[in-house]
Amino acid sequence: MEGAAALLRWYVDNGVDEAIGEEPIDRFALPPPQPVAAVPAAVPVTKAPIPLRPPPVPATPPPPRAPIPLESPQLVEDARALAESCKTLAELEAAIRGFDSCALKRTAKNTVFADGDPQAPVMIVGEAPGADEDRLGKPFVGVSGQLMDRMMAAIGLTRDGGFYITNILFWRPPGNRTPTLAEQAMCLAFVRRHIELVRPKILVLAGATAAKSVLDTVEGITRLRGKWTVHRLADGTEIPTLPTFHPAYVLRTPASKRLSWHDMLAIDRKLKELG
Ligand code: URA
Repeated sequence: MEGAAALLRWYVDNGVDEAIGEEPIDRFALPPPQPVAAVPAAVPVTKAPIPLRPPPVPATPPPPRAPIPLESPQLVEDARALAESCKTLAELEAAIRGFDSCALKRTAKNTVFADGDPQAPVMIVGEAPGADEDRLGKPFVGVSGQLMDRMMAAIGLTRDGGFYITNILFWRPPGNRTPTLAEQAMCLAFVRRHIELVRPKILVLAGATAAKSVLDTVEGITRLRGKWTVHRLADGTEIPTLPTFHPAYVLRTPASKRLSWHDMLAIDRKLKELG
């Protein structure tokens, strides 16, 4: 009893001085306590590294610019304006070599500008550089060019003072594909200026493509060839112009040789007429 009294005193001394209930509770007989909802683990706080210098302020991006489609009339206009701004052949050649808007240029090895003498009485305009011309950067140096040289030599004209030669296109179309209308129009802007700056006595259009583009007609070469017409320059000057077969066609079609020879004789007569 003494022990129990001493224990009671010890409780009182420690503040346990009030009974909770009249009846004792057997807590082992109680149902197990409900699990308490898990408390989320505290997210470890990681310290952001202190930047050595403040992040750069992003520059204001330029407003998006729609790419100009390669077929855009704007590019044709650009070619026209550029061609018209050229006052000499050297300027025109530099402008064409620097002109990057024609897709043909991207696949070509060389820009094929012209060959022969720009002071010569005859200017010949052909179609497009082939593989040989693309490789060497000069027009009409392959087999059809050799035939052209022989035909012209037969009437006493050579590249050395007798004729000047160029093409409707300055770049070889990849796989010799047909150039698009915009590609043709861009090149034609330069070709027109080319003719204006050379001002030949006689213009010869070799093949259907050259004849149709320069004369702006849908008429076929069989109808056009051998008939003199005029190419009018911006200042009104009229250049006597003769469409003729392309030498590549003459090579493939022996029957066309006689007509081609007639055309050569017609050029010779016209030169004599013009003095
Ligand atoms: N055919 C052309 O029309 N031009 C050339 O330069 C070569 C072949």
